[in-house]
Amino acid sequence: MAEIATIERIGQFVDEKVTLRGWLFNKRSSGKIRFLQIRDGTGSIQAVLVKNEVSPSTFAVADTVTQESSLVVTGVVRADDRAVGGHELQVSDIQVIQVAEDYPITPKEHGPAFLLDHRHLWLRSAKQHAILRIRSHLIQAAREYLHQEGFVLFDAPILTPTACEGTSTLFETDYFYGETAYLSQSGQLYAEAGAMALGKVYTLGPTFRAEKSKTRRHLTEFWMLEPEVAYADLQDILSLAEELVSHLVNSVLTHKSEELRTVGRDLDKLRLVVPPFPRITYDEALDLLRQRGMAMKWGNDFGATEDTVLSEQFDLPVMITHYPVQAKAFYMKSDPDNPNLALCLDMLAPEGYGEIIGGSQREDDYHQLLEKLAAHRLPREPFEWYLDLRRYGTVPHAGFGLGIERTIAWICGIKHLREAIPFPRMLQRIYP
Ligand code: 4AD
Ligand code: MG
Repeated sequence: MAEIATIERIGQFVDEKVTLRGWLFNKRSSGKIRFLQIRDGTGSIQAVLVKNEVSPSTFAVADTVTQESSLVVTGVVRADDRAVGGHELQVSDIQVIQVAEDYPITPKEHGPAFLLDHRHLWLRSAKQHAILRIRSHLIQAAREYLHQEGFVLFDAPILTPTACEGTSTLFETDYFYGETAYLSQSGQLYAEAGAMALGKVYTLGPTFRAEKSKTRRHLTEFWMLEPEVAYADLQDILSLAEELVSHLVNSVLTHKSEELRTVGRDLDKLRLVVPPFPRITYDEALDLLRQRGMAMKWGNDFGATEDTVLSEQFDLPVMITHYPVQAKAFYMKSDPDNPNLALCLDMLAPEGYGEIIGGSQREDDYHQLLEKLAAHRLPREPFEWYLDLRRYGTVPHAGFGLGIERTIAWICGIKHLREAIPFPRMLQRIYP
């Protein structure tokens, strides 16, 4: 009996007989030899069948199997410098689990709509496979980093009674007894309660925005990582944000360089991502935009176009602070030196990728917070629990949210967020 191996670890089995379980990716033939490109989820390898070294029925299988047929292949591992990954498999036996029907995704070019309709199959292609492995690694690295820094995982609810990031992008659903529930736009308000209980917490989960805009940077369902820290101010979370992001980039570079190459990423650009990141104020960013001929009125938040232009000015992520209060959410604390400005930050990824982080110091004063709720025309009653956090032992605190898909899109160098999540949800797409 041959040992069951994975392609990822095939190097441990040189000159030994192993069994691989996978799918046929591609095949070609040349005279009395058949080459089967097999993938097993961990990698791909070329399996070679030589006519007079296998039984006639085994050799015949090579001619009948179709793309994406499921196979169990047994053979001897040979080291071969010319092969992708440095090894190939000299086949002695093939067991076909299923001969796949005509596979819709062929090596030829397909348009994005077709690929998205077949997302459940598109996931098997080399580039998508690499992106999803990078995603898995990035989330794991973020969790490990925060645990090392003393953060406690604090899961926030998805069904919520209130808005966190403005009422225009809420998904509504009927709750019981005539009540309405909203899908969470952010775990932040709950993370603040967590920080008052546990000191340093983070949430990581799906968040929802009924974005009516069709842009490559917006999903209606996306994942957010949100650290929240008691006894912290804006400066503290600026440091945390740049440490976290540089750690993530470095960790992907160290552990997933093969996948980065598969997606065609320029690794030198990522190697530049080392603290300190440039920090500028909203007013300075406005000046930069004006110098580039983009007239913008003081007081508005930057949109996708402004973010793109700003993020093209830097080789590193840039952190922009002190936006006008009217441009930002109700919970942000005002700058005591200039109450028109919020103690907030946006981090924009370089190379035109735009905003990956939004955060702030929180309004910790009960009366100020009441005023801010009123100024944003938000009802007081559903926020009573949130106001309690200011009634009972309020402290300065701050946090931010890092968009997982935006971060992956930047690190992988892909332009559209739809490839950064297994099943993207967008304005015109909920299938599959
Ligand atoms: O800037 P945002 O809206 O901030 C918040 O939600 C805060 N409550 C977070 C906090 O302080 N704890 O969103 C944070 C990040 C953005 O910078 C972006 O990366 C991502 O979430 N994001 C989206 N990603 C994909 N699709 C969308 N529609 C997104 N909206 C925000
Ligand atoms: Mg934002």
